[in-house]
Amino acid sequence: MPDEAKIERDRIERRRFKIKDIDQLKLVDDVFNEYTLKALYELMNRRIVLEVYGPIAQGKEAKVIWGKDYEGKDLALKVYYTLANRFINRNPYIMGDRRFSGKPSNPFKLASMWCRKEFRNMKRAYEAKVLVPTPIAFYNNILVMEFIGEDGAPAPLLKDEPPSDVQSAYIDVILNVEKALIIGKLIHADLSEYNILNWNGKLYIIDWGSAVDSSHPNSTDLLYRDIRNINRFFSKLGASTVDEGKLTEALIERSRGSYIIDNNRVIINGKDLLSYLNLS
Ligand SMILES: Nc1ncnc2c1ncn2[C@@H]1O[C@H](COP(=O)(O)OP(=O)(O)OP(=O)(O)O)[C@@H](O)[C@H]1O
Ligand SMILES: [Mg+2]
Repeated sequence: MPDEAKIERDRIERRRFKIKDIDQLKLVDDVFNEYTLKALYELMNRRIVLEVYGPIAQGKEAKVIWGKDYEGKDLALKVYYTLANRFINRNPYIMGDRRFSGKPSNPFKLASMWCRKEFRNMKRAYEAKVLVPTPIAFYNNILVMEFIGEDGAPAPLLKDEPPSDVQSAYIDVILNVEKALIIGKLIHADLSEYNILNWNGKLYIIDWGSAVDSSHPNSTDLLYRDIRNINRFFSKLGASTVDEGKLTEALIERSRGSYIIDNNRVIINGKDLLSYLNLS
């Protein structure tokens, strides 16, 4: 066996935690406190997760852990931190969302609430045919989803690996924003090249924790901000973008009518978004 492969295998072996020894995870990563271990234990008992290997990424609100299911398929486990201070800045979003009207009372509940919120949002996006990692399950502060990447190496972020065809990637992203809004009634609200994975020529939108229902009082501003971020990134790469005000208005206008889906596109009065904008 070549050295590199052996090192990699040893690395995995060292990080291989099955149900009998998940207690040891505490030693590997401090994200695994008692509360989180119990959640992991539950997901293992339900046979959703077979084993976990270790962290692949660390975000502001969660750590993402690589694992496997009983069929040997890779999983990404997003483990929300249970520290109260991590959430203070995010609170206004939850508070403005009618689905979360109760006041969370402790950091464990708050982490679980965020996890449930992200899972539901992801599921809505997934069902609206937006390209997202398939949401699989959640329990307390752990969200389980499809792993995007290979052999424990996560797919690069769009910011680190720009697409080869920037124009069609731009169109792809705005059509996904439209599907989320019109079919899923959802606005991502934290969309940028930092929350898109570029894998095998496909762009997966991740990090749905702060997404809001289209009935949110700030929905237009949030949608505008998402589009502005996307426009900024893609125009820097040389794509020709649709003016953010015009695009936001078009999307809001289109979200008022009834739609059909044809060929994975939203059609309103016979027009998809591109023909509505006279782009095709
Ligand atoms: N399904 C997945 N497959 C592979 N990698 C993933 C997956 N989901 C997330 N990641 C990796 O984990 C990182 C953190 O995920 P995510 O953006 O959802 O967390 P976050 O804590 O909200 O991050 P931040 O607040 O810093 O944006 C991502 O940037 C990506 O590298
Ligand atoms: Mg993120």
